[in-house]
Amino acid sequence: MFHVNAKIVHRMLHCRHTLCFRPLSGKASSSRLVLGIETSCDDTGAAVLDETGAILGESLNSQKEVHLRTGGIIPTVAQQLHRENIERVVQEALERSSVAPGQLSAVATTVKPGLALSLGIGLEFSLRFVRQHNKPFIPIHHMEAHALTVRMLQPVAFPFLVLLVSGGHSLLAVARGVDDFLLLGHTLDEAPGDTLDKVARRLSLIKHPQCSTLSGGQAIELLAKDGDRTRFPFTTPMGQTYDCCFSFAGLRNQVTMTIMKQEAEEGVKQGTLLTCVNDIAAATQHTVASHLAKRTHRAILFCKAKGLLPSSSPTLVVSGGVASNQYIRKALMIITEMTGLHLLCPPAKFCTDNGVMIAWYVYSNVSESDLI
Ligand code: KG4
Ligand code: ZN
Repeated sequence: MFHVNAKIVHRMLHCRHTLCFRPLSGKASSSRLVLGIETSCDDTGAAVLDETGAILGESLNSQKEVHLRTGGIIPTVAQQLHRENIERVVQEALERSSVAPGQLSAVATTVKPGLALSLGIGLEFSLRFVRQHNKPFIPIHHMEAHALTVRMLQPVAFPFLVLLVSGGHSLLAVARGVDDFLLLGHTLDEAPGDTLDKVARRLSLIKHPQCSTLSGGQAIELLAKDGDRTRFPFTTPMGQTYDCCFSFAGLRNQVTMTIMKQEAEEGVKQGTLLTCVNDIAAATQHTVASHLAKRTHRAILFCKAKGLLPSSSPTLVVSGGVASNQYIRKALMIITEMTGLHLLCPPAKFCTDNGVMIAWYVYSNVSESDLI
């Protein structure tokens, strides 16, 4: 039986917005311009959108290459890089949109969840900016923004099922409204992107000629294309746990043990590229995909049993950095085809962190009268 208790019912947004919410309608108007700012992890992003959702200008500074060199995100390093880049990134977004600060209707910024030191830079900058230019400030929940990004590209009616998978999160929820989410499951330990990043680091993929500038997840996806996933049959996590939660730490342990065994067999030390990296990448990616697909399948069956999704055109939205993985998308497509759901994934560019999704969230949510 499906295990559910009252604790699974959360509202993901705990901080109240300073504004009341109702969708915007009407024609594009140059007086309805929102600047979105994102600094929750390792991307400094900014974008200006008009009320039709058109992106007038955007800028993104990724810290990925620095963190790849240092072997993972060091919060103080991420903070310093945000500090060094935020002014330029915001300036670029404004210049590319030919919008002066005085023309903005509001500034929206990610305030949670994320790395506290990174979030602090975006918040500090935004509060100074809104004070200086006398603009309203709108705090945004990062995961809600990821969940609603898809509606920027096509209309998706509430309620819909959403799977958010990134470097910091793994969750399944029913999106019932712009700030009303029923949480069905979350990760009990680490997020899938984190697992893929750590496996990539343990495999020293930064030394691989094709992977030196790729995130862990991207590197695993690329190498897996030429790998044999059946060579290392990892166990899919939580086979005996009948809920919609996730766990990836055990898989990482299985992979690490296999890598150590292979290093011993090949007579090489940790830090050397193994000859079987493609096969390990393929097996890891397959197991992550299989776990995500199985838990999503459970969530779909649960939603159907409880009538949580509409009977006509029920939809699964998948977003977050890991959602850009094509193998994982295919696994989810098998599940949605089997259960009659429509699968929607934003393009890779909008799956990862960016300022566009933060500004867009405002248009799904605020009252017209709240914008100057
Ligand atoms: O959403 P995101 O940009 O930042 C967070 O909020 O975490 O996601 C970044 C994560 C990283 O862990 C990265 O390895 C993973 O998404 N990722 C991928 C792929 N591209 C990025 N994972 C699997 N396959 C990919 N193609
Ligand atoms: Zn994210």
